[in-house]
Amino acid sequence: MSLAGRGRPGGPRVRLVPGALEVAEAAHACRTWPELAATVRRCTACPELAAYRGQVVVGDVPAGGPARARLALVGEAPGAEEDAAGRPFVGRAGRLLDGLLAAAGLDRAEAAVLNVLRCRPPGNRPPRPEEATRCRGWLDRSLELVQPELVVTLGLTAAVLFLGRRVTLAAVRGAVHEVDGQRILPTYHPSAAIRFGPDGVPRAALAEDLRLAATLLG
Ligand code: URA
Repeated sequence: MSLAGRGRPGGPRVRLVPGALEVAEAAHACRTWPELAATVRRCTACPELAAYRGQVVVGDVPAGGPARARLALVGEAPGAEEDAAGRPFVGRAGRLLDGLLAAAGLDRAEAAVLNVLRCRPPGNRPPRPEEATRCRGWLDRSLELVQPELVVTLGLTAAVLFLGRRVTLAAVRGAVHEVDGQRILPTYHPSAAIRFGPDGVPRAALAEDLRLAATLLG
């Protein structure tokens, strides 16, 4: 079963959270990235997020062609700068991520950059599980359209979404996990790398894992 298959109408997970089935159906009906982006921007499935957000942050895909990318990065949720710009990872964490991608020989412009949530949570609080489940339909359809060879998850929220609630980053990072036919490489979030400083474990691990991603993509 594909990743999107789990969020498709009829799947057990989406039926437990009000609104998730509707998102999964709307996402599934989108045939192209522009169509998906336009539909996501109208989403009001999470009333608190829809009321609080400045903009919906759909995600970045490589410009000038079909929305395909060999590498997809999945973070947590937009912050203040992303909400203002309407684009993912443009703040401090994004600048660190860009630098570490470049150092690993990866070009951000060729990657898809996505998040678990498409709206900024109030006060930058962590996404609630039901919000992540609702927004999952948009993420799954994004990945179906982008067809990445490798998904690098940034931080625990994204790792949990793909690998399940019981994971710890220390246990799963730096290795490829196959989930429903998709290769997932979990690593630390760039915000953790900033928080623990340049000599901290998250920064070294993030840099190492992005180098591994580059190697895996050849
Ligand atoms: N942190 C995230 O997880 N995503 C963004 O887009 C920005 C910061």
